[in-house]
Amino acid sequence: MSEIDALNQQLSVLQQEALTAFTAATDVAALTELRVRYLGKKGSLTEVLKGVGKLAPEERPVIGQSVNIVKQVLGNALREAEIALQEVETQQRIEAERIDVTLSGRSRTRGSKHPVQTGLDEMTAIFTQMGFDIAEGPEIEDEFHNFDALNIPPEHPARAMHDTFFLKDDEDANVAESEAKPEAKPMLLRTHTSPVQIRAMQHFMEERVEPPFSVVAPGRVYRCDYDVTHSPMFHQVEVFKVDHDVSLAHLKGVLKHFLSTYFEKDLPIRLRPHYFPFTEPSAEVDIGCVFCSGKGCRICKGSGWIEILGSGMIHPNVLNSTGIDSEKFSGFAFGLGVERLVMLKQGIPDLRLFFENDVRFLRRMGS
Ligand code: DAH
Repeated sequence: MSEIDALNQQLSVLQQEALTAFTAATDVAALTELRVRYLGKKGSLTEVLKGVGKLAPEERPVIGQSVNIVKQVLGNALREAEIALQEVETQQRIEAERIDVTLSGRSRTRGSKHPVQTGLDEMTAIFTQMGFDIAEGPEIEDEFHNFDALNIPPEHPARAMHDTFFLKDDEDANVAESEAKPEAKPMLLRTHTSPVQIRAMQHFMEERVEPPFSVVAPGRVYRCDYDVTHSPMFHQVEVFKVDHDVSLAHLKGVLKHFLSTYFEKDLPIRLRPHYFPFTEPSAEVDIGCVFCSGKGCRICKGSGWIEILGSGMIHPNVLNSTGIDSEKFSGFAFGLGVERLVMLKQGIPDLRLFFENDVRFLRRMGS
């Protein structure tokens, strides 16, 4: 075979091989590689051209023309294959990114109110519906409002019973106990919501508002205590009313309405004589057991009654400490533990569940 025939054959084999490879390519990147392999500076066609030197001078343009034709054929084939593959790739991307409007939406988990907050809101609402005004007081209190004005003098055992968290003020923080300024007023985390009685009455007196005062004061309180039924932070609702001729009958009527509304059933209640420094007389209030309807069970320890809150007629010393004339006015007051009532209503066995933030519990209780 002559040199020129051999070259021509080589060219046609190359063209065939390249065209087959182009058709087999599955993506644009593979085609780019093939373009370099066949048409690139060091590619197969350039290789073939090197053989041209062996030809007679008059044969060279003939082969040159054949090479150009192959170059053109391959170039066109490459472009077409590229366009086709680009089209396929675009289709695939559209396919992959297509918005399927029939797909159901991804739902976001929504937060819910904490069961203690739900309880506080429900309780407060029952009192506002009865015409009580909402009052709030500071969680950092002084001894006067938390104790003295509530008829709990410094040496009173009730003061020790309260397991109070005391705060050091900034100036005293780095000073030895013995060097602390005697006039510095010790501050504390309020141990109950009863100081709001004092603050509210003081406020009314300053504003020269005369009784009747009807106040509900929900809020957080603190005691140094922690077990199944005690947490160092918990919630109370304080309620009081001051007017002419307020009696125990008013107290019992308000309690009965409140407890039956909150527990959503007509509950029997009883007042048991007790002692609180800020009320005289004082009573602990029991409700008929919500679990056994008074028959006696494990929860009520067989008695049929559950102790629920402290109450009484506001002590004259308390009224007088805020400037209210205890000869002219009388009042009732009570204070209840919110967690305890929510536990009884919802059948929650352990107080600590409220503060552990276990979402399974919160989800079940959520409203
Ligand atoms: N402050 C009391 C406590 O936390 C509860 C209490 C008892 C409040 C009797 C009152 C009351 O207003 O009259 O233990």
